[in-house]
Amino acid sequence: MSKQFDVVVIGGGPGGYIAAIRAAQLGFQVACIDEWKNAAGGPAPGGTCTNVGCIPSKALLQSSEHFEHANHHFADHGITAKDVKMDVAKMVARKDSVVKQNNDGILYLLKKNKVTFFHGRGSFAGQAEGGYTINVAGKTEEAITAKQVIIATGSNARALPGTAFDEVNVLSNDGALRLGTVPKKLALIGSGVIGLEMGSVWRRLGAEVTILEGLPTFLGAVDEQIAKEAKKAFDKQGLKIELGVKVGEIVNGKKDVTVNYTNAKGEAIVLDADKLIISIGRVPNTIGLNTEAVGLQLDERGAIVVDGDCKTNLPGVWAVGDVVRGPMLAHKAEEEGVAVAERIAGQHGHVNFNTIPWVIYTSPEIAWVGRTEQQLKADGVAYKAGTFPFLANGRARALGDTTGMVKFLADATTDEILGVHMVGPQVSELISEAVVAMEFKASAEDIARICHAHPSLSEATKEAALAVDKRTLNF
Ligand code: FAD
Ligand code: NAI
Repeated sequence: MSKQFDVVVIGGGPGGYIAAIRAAQLGFQVACIDEWKNAAGGPAPGGTCTNVGCIPSKALLQSSEHFEHANHHFADHGITAKDVKMDVAKMVARKDSVVKQNNDGILYLLKKNKVTFFHGRGSFAGQAEGGYTINVAGKTEEAITAKQVIIATGSNARALPGTAFDEVNVLSNDGALRLGTVPKKLALIGSGVIGLEMGSVWRRLGAEVTILEGLPTFLGAVDEQIAKEAKKAFDKQGLKIELGVKVGEIVNGKKDVTVNYTNAKGEAIVLDADKLIISIGRVPNTIGLNTEAVGLQLDERGAIVVDGDCKTNLPGVWAVGDVVRGPMLAHKAEEEGVAVAERIAGQHGHVNFNTIPWVIYTSPEIAWVGRTEQQLKADGVAYKAGTFPFLANGRARALGDTTGMVKFLADATTDEILGVHMVGPQVSELISEAVVAMEFKASAEDIARICHAHPSLSEATKEAALAVDKRTLNF
């Protein structure tokens, strides 16, 4: 007889493993199936985020930033660092060990919460009495059943039609994170989040980087003023970003890659590069789930169709994270995973899509929550704006990093915070205050009246809130 569970989670990324832990905390018998393999063929739970996404990219961003500081910024502090070298193999090995610590941590957490982990591919076999039968194909094959199924199978990199990823010359995020040497010339297609983060890593290490972007605007989803400030900083660093291009034929030679494109002026350009990273978005992943066996509904993009509560068209089947609508972010996947587990337990799980923060971990970092100025204009909302530059912040001066600003957008009548946008040092951490404020429906004045430690970067947040009412103290 097949093993029976209350809840089976398919996918062990941030959406899946967190859903499994929360369901187990709520008293359910839970199984979590994940097929990701480490180099030795063993389990490597954590999904894209842990293995080829959030964690390894931040490890490489950290290493390359140290290198950049040693080469270009230590001297300002009176430190002489001669003959600074980067051992790429060691940097990548460190990144791999950070990933492994996270894989092991997740396995430990699943065990601690008494979640049964299956290493292999989960697929629907059909309906079982009061639930579903799921086949697990790993080293062995077995079938398990559950009343409730949570699908968290994530996403894969989108390929350009006609150009396959070989992960040698034409790289997805996977290959981009494990280059063995610094390419002399690196081309990227897509100046979104991955393009900017990966472009930054390899530029800092010495690559000549060109990013080709199809749209005429830079970071269109970001507040225009913030995007403009970020672009200025990237230009200064030598990160070459060409907007409004049309990519044509790509020739993957044995030793290099040639990208033919038309630039914004309509000129035909041939770009030769040692490596090409394609970062033009990601596609939901339902490969091998055998959705047809149970009639699970997908949309035209291949995403699983869900309602606001992550319910699919099938009773007892839920889906969360990158495989459904909404932003493809690890913390969004986690929030949905927790909410679904709580809904299964009859509780009122809740995800506030209006307060999901975004962070781009470049230097300067870019972070935001809520609506941009251009969105408020389009929505016809009367608003007040307040900005404060890091140039006028004592801690930023002490750090030697005064790029950027904090910007508040508040309702013109009620003063409720509608959006907070940041570009500058450590704004990935500063944005949390804005998220909390918006979650509690705070006004700009609320933040302006709160005591912030001195000297800290967070004072720029307070000052930007004061700026909404045109009463900054230090600018
Ligand atoms: P995934 O993390 O993709 O996990 C899905 C898991 O399911 C995988 O382990 C997969 O092997 C497994 N699986 C799939 N099908 C089956 C099956 N049939 N049976 C068994 N297992 C299966 N987001 C952030 O918030 N912050 C960041 O800094 C950030 N950086 C990123 C950097 C890069 C380079 C990339 C590519 C992404 C980044 N993201 C970041 C996005 C983030 O990784 C995703 O939003 C997140 O991983 C989605 O989680 P998930 O659980 O939905 O799916
Ligand atoms: P993206 O959606 O962020 O950016 C893709 C870019 O490619 C866009 O600017 C788009 O206009 C451009 N593009 C699309 N087709 C093109 C074409 N044919 N030619 C030229 N340009 C083209 O996608 P990206 O960077 O691949 O990342 C995928 C997702 O992963 C992100 O949207 C995000 O959800 C997640 N992610 C999150 C990170 C974070 O939170 N810090 C870091 C990295 C990824």
